[in-house]
Amino acid sequence: MKNVLIVSGHNDLNNSLANTIILENLQNSLPAAEFDFLDKLYPDYEFDVKKEQEKLVKADIIVLQFPIFWYSVPSLMKKWFEDIFIHGFSHGSTGKALAGKTLIASFTTGSPAEAYKHGGMQNYTLDEFLPPLIQLAAISGMNWGGYVHTGGVSYASRNDEAAQKEIKEKSFQHAQRLMEKLTALF
Ligand SMILES: Cc1cc2nc3c(=O)[nH]c(=O)nc-3n(C[C@H](O)[C@H](O)[C@H](O)COP(=O)(O)O)c2cc1C
Repeated sequence: MKNVLIVSGHNDLNNSLANTIILENLQNSLPAAEFDFLDKLYPDYEFDVKKEQEKLVKADIIVLQFPIFWYSVPSLMKKWFEDIFIHGFSHGSTGKALAGKTLIASFTTGSPAEAYKHGGMQNYTLDEFLPPLIQLAAISGMNWGGYVHTGGVSYASRNDEAAQKEIKEKSFQHAQRLMEKLTALF
């Protein structure tokens, strides 16, 4: 069994449906994994750099769990990258702490998957938004483990009971798909 670290980058899980359900399911399925709830631990965006680096070093597989905010990771997770993945730790001639680990992205979008295509509402494919994460893995010597995506979990439909039910079901399925990906790596 490999050590798994799940990093939740949602800015505010109190205002989340999809990511909350995905994370709850993962906690049930992976009791031995470490869960890093950035919004709970660091509401002021001031990270304990040493602690965060230690969590990364201990892990064999790192899962980034987040909602897409403006075609990228949320600001909290972006600042976590900036503060934790520093020269001499993750990259640079002496920065080898993450080499050989696997990085997986697990994310949700408001727009449905079909919107992410050339000529579609979002104009680009999902893969075209991912190079910053793929290259973050590469420059840190990590293997890119791919991604799990669920679309159509928009805030717009939150007050509709049937829509909420659908988001819950999709989020459950998302956690199952991520578990399949992880199990293949164990
Ligand atoms: C500030 C902000 C920016 C967003 N940007 C995008 C976006 O670029 N593309 C998209 O498909 N959805 C976007 N969304 C929708 C979120 O991705 C969606 O609400 C989220 O994945 C739902 O997860 P949650 O229930 O855990 O919050 C955005 C939402 C917010 C609040």
